[in-house]
Amino acid sequence: DWTPAAFVQETVARIKEQVGNKRVVMALSGGVDSTVAAELIHKAIGQNLYCVFVDNGLLRKDEFETVLDSYKHMGLNVKGVNARQLFYNELQGVSDPEKKRKIIGRLFIEVFQHEAEQLTDIAFLGQGTIYPDVIESVSVNGPSVTIKSHHNVGGLPEKMNMSLVEPLRFLFKDEVRRVGREIGISELFLGRHPFPGPGLAIRILGDITPEKVTMLQEADAIYIEGLREAGLYDKVWQAGTILLPVQSVGVMGDERTYEFTVALRAVTSTDGMTADWAHLPYEFLAKMSNEIINRVKGINRVVYDISSKPPATIEWE
Ligand code: XMP
Repeated sequence: DWTPAAFVQETVARIKEQVGNKRVVMALSGGVDSTVAAELIHKAIGQNLYCVFVDNGLLRKDEFETVLDSYKHMGLNVKGVNARQLFYNELQGVSDPEKKRKIIGRLFIEVFQHEAEQLTDIAFLGQGTIYPDVIESVSVNGPSVTIKSHHNVGGLPEKMNMSLVEPLRFLFKDEVRRVGREIGISELFLGRHPFPGPGLAIRILGDITPEKVTMLQEADAIYIEGLREAGLYDKVWQAGTILLPVQSVGVMGDERTYEFTVALRAVTSTDGMTADWAHLPYEFLAKMSNEIINRVKGINRVVYDISSKPPATIEWE
């Protein structure tokens, strides 16, 4: 019978054997998978694990600072890299979702590779790949159809010419969470909603500017905080806000406004492959709408997305 305790014991022993006295480099994302994988590798080889956490300027509000801090508290050997400007520069004027993904994927590899090259004697690349990633990279992103090119699988290993350490390769998400709990990883990581690699770039429809990112970060923070306060965060699979490339007329005081619209999204799901829109209480939606419109400059309208997957997808891009 599979138990988290036995899995941890075996996996740590296996990593020790595989890696020996060599060094491992690994990119952290702030998500459950890379965090649990890093902790397992850290348990096995300690300070011979070197982690890199990249700020692409497309994370949630304050996410980079908060998460980097947590990593340091966990004792991980981690370097935070501020690459915001690089990402904003390269994304300037780009509206096509797949182009955004490709640019972000390429820049991420470039930044990570540059960091890895500063380290000496690195023999292994650590990754938080889980079983569904392995399957999905075959079925969804296979040679025949690409619905959305999820860039967190593949790309790195071939380019970096290193052997892989992938402690979670045969686990499902709920097993990863159980392992994380077993090794004492904070619920802050374990209970976190999935968040796409390209981040807010694919939640800003159309072109991306630092101002739009800030606007969306503010709206998103109000929504996520609101979900937590209302006890709804753990009841949905994923939630977020989308900045629409639409301006509409509103009235504030006795001023006419002409500002942006934010869409709120929340879905229930078991694996992200199919999803239903979450039936959030009207009172909650009303509160979120008021708070966002009152507090976020540049937004004068809030809508709620009532589409399920399929035929819609969870993200809008
Ligand atoms: P969709 O929009 O395809 O999303 O229904 C399914 C799940 O995948 C996440 N997602 C991504 N994750 N890179 C990622 O790492 C991506 O490019 C990407 N696109 C979508 C999405 O947030 C949801 O959890």
